[in-house]
Amino acid sequence: MFRIAVMVSGGGTNLQAIIDAIESGVITDTEIAVVISNNEDAYALERAKKAGIKAVCVSRKEIPDRGEYNKALLSAVEEEKVDLVVLAGFLVVIPEEMIQKYRNRIINIHPSLIPSFCGTGYYGLKVHEGALARGVKVSGATVHFVDEGTDTGPIILQKAVEILDDDTPEVLQRRIMEQAEWKLLPEAINLLAHDKLEVVEGVVKRK
Ligand code: GAR
Repeated sequence: MFRIAVMVSGGGTNLQAIIDAIESGVITDTEIAVVISNNEDAYALERAKKAGIKAVCVSRKEIPDRGEYNKALLSAVEEEKVDLVVLAGFLVVIPEEMIQKYRNRIINIHPSLIPSFCGTGYYGLKVHEGALARGVKVSGATVHFVDEGTDTGPIILQKAVEILDDDTPEVLQRRIMEQAEWKLLPEAINLLAHDKLEVVEGVVKRK
């Protein structure tokens, strides 16, 4: 079994998409070993519990020291001996030590077509506000490996989604989730679970 940790901060609709994809066989030979949240009120933790998945909270409030917090996050992941770490709306910067130890084994879903509307300050609704303010006519989602930068790692999958004239950030967010994120993230996990990808000079290729 390919073991994954899913890290979350909020509602957890992407986590739900992964749970459903495992249940329906879109993702095979894979189990969610643990769901880790930085936020004890994240509804994602409820989703994990309902699905019978181990759910833990590593709270910034309880561990204010950044170094101690980073250690706690890393040990929560290491304890489970996972093959892949999936950031599904996880809004905390990943410790450098974890990035080094899990090189090309941490993936993130971002709700735009990277390199547009990404980097520091672009998360959640802010991404969609940026796209609407710029007036772009397509946006979308990207799954990428996590490196030391913010949204700079090798791109695994992308999907474009049309923007409509009367979109609000909330409406656009929902369309991008439905048409792109909830499909792309399970697809990427399944590719990695079956060892179908390699990174060649910073570019992801199918094996
Ligand atoms: C998703 O739209 C995800 O792409 C985004 O946060 C949302 C989490 O929703 N992630 C980022 O903006 C990362 N920079 P969810 O908790 O319902 O999956």
